[in-house]
Amino acid sequence: MTHPNPKTMGQQFGRRSWAEPWKIKMVEPLRVITRAERERALQDAGYNTFLLKSDDVYIDLLTDSGTNAMSDRQWAGMMLGDEAYAGSRNFYHLEDAMRKYYGYKHLVPTHQGRGAEHILSKVAIKDGQYVGGNMYFTTTRLHQELAGGTFVDVIIDEAHDPANLHPFKGNVDLNKVQKLIDEVGAQNIAYISLAATVNMAGGQPVSMANARALRELCSQHGIRVFLDATRAVENAFFIQEREADYQNKSLAEILHEFCSYTDGATMSAKKDSLANIGGWLALNDDVLFEEASNMVVVYEGLHTYGGMAGRDMEALAIGIVESVQDDHMRARIGQVRYLGELLTDWEIPIVRPVGGHAIFLDARAFYPHIPQDDFPAQTLAAELYLDSGIRSMERGIVSAGRNAKTGDHNRPKLELTRLTIPRRVYTQAHMDVVAESVKAVYDQRAKTRGLKMVFEPKYLRFFQARFERL
Ligand code: F0G
Repeated sequence: MTHPNPKTMGQQFGRRSWAEPWKIKMVEPLRVITRAERERALQDAGYNTFLLKSDDVYIDLLTDSGTNAMSDRQWAGMMLGDEAYAGSRNFYHLEDAMRKYYGYKHLVPTHQGRGAEHILSKVAIKDGQYVGGNMYFTTTRLHQELAGGTFVDVIIDEAHDPANLHPFKGNVDLNKVQKLIDEVGAQNIAYISLAATVNMAGGQPVSMANARALRELCSQHGIRVFLDATRAVENAFFIQEREADYQNKSLAEILHEFCSYTDGATMSAKKDSLANIGGWLALNDDVLFEEASNMVVVYEGLHTYGGMAGRDMEALAIGIVESVQDDHMRARIGQVRYLGELLTDWEIPIVRPVGGHAIFLDARAFYPHIPQDDFPAQTLAAELYLDSGIRSMERGIVSAGRNAKTGDHNRPKLELTRLTIPRRVYTQAHMDVVAESVKAVYDQRAKTRGLKMVFEPKYLRFFQARFERL
């Protein structure tokens, strides 16, 4: 499959090159500490990049979550915060934006994505039920399990292969959904959890045709579909680029249609929506909404703020509008691809096709001599920090946690280190520096040994686990 080369992407529009549709008004200084200081910082952090101090980091590619640069409009919106406990004007702006662009009926605000996942899991899963999903996400699956559900992966097999060039590697395998229905019965399936894009697969998209077909299958059996809309606008970009009949549709139109095949959504607004905090749960069903808006007052805050300040809801409402602009998304994904192209040119193993929010280094191929139980992706994240102060994140065996029943490690096929690109934050020169550091670590790969885990928390262990060098 061929993709437009990001370095020459603008040429098709009759220009020599392309650039971001914004300029920079305010800057934040960066600092690089010495290698000796990095060695100490890494040891203090137990070789876990989540435990590093941000001041000790040079280019921070830990996550695209809450790390976005807001626009001048969003900052202006912050000054219009209506900090009322109840009925804040900013809530209604957010509700309008969600209804207009995502198209759902009811909005339940939450402090961030996992707040919405918690509430959805509690209201929509009965103890002992199954939840099908196109690959797990850490917090999503944990909330499903804590609510008594059992997660079943129903993503297409291609998603588990870092080198497979399927254009919609996030697609649901409908045969796997059918098999689940046949095995456990539709009444024992709480819902299908559809993520677009699929973070753990490499930011891989779901096609419109797949979402539509999933809707049809689930409707035949009375099963609901809930979308993880965290990066659904990025997903819309891939539909526009790769799916017949969508080339001339706007991202906003594509997003709206995509959401229409689902019954509601959870949202981490810290990603697509260009905000630093926030989230929501959207529901079409009146009864579920009643229950969810009752539960939100227990866990998050009143149903017109859900843990967010008025100003944050305003920034988020504006961010939604900015996120669906086609030129914004072209630059956002163009930058991720630029980094991907540099690494591919140097034959460094990454997940391909390059997805929406990050480059995922294939740590198995990077360190074929390090067994998965010695944490190759965690090792790679540590080595990269040591080389240059660049912070990345493990997305492999540590993130996958343990099997809830057997207690053994879950051993995912994908053992990845994620270089996550915050939106509107870093420049092309930063991407060059990142690529050069990855290359330097790659050139020393034969000398690198793995890690052992010396502290393991019970839940979401990747956040706080500690390691030592072998
Ligand atoms: N769903 C997806 C697909 C996510 O990527 C995240 C967060 C969440 C839900 C949870 O949202 O953090 O607002 O509670 N992902 C971040 C990441 C943490 O780095 O990928 P949250």
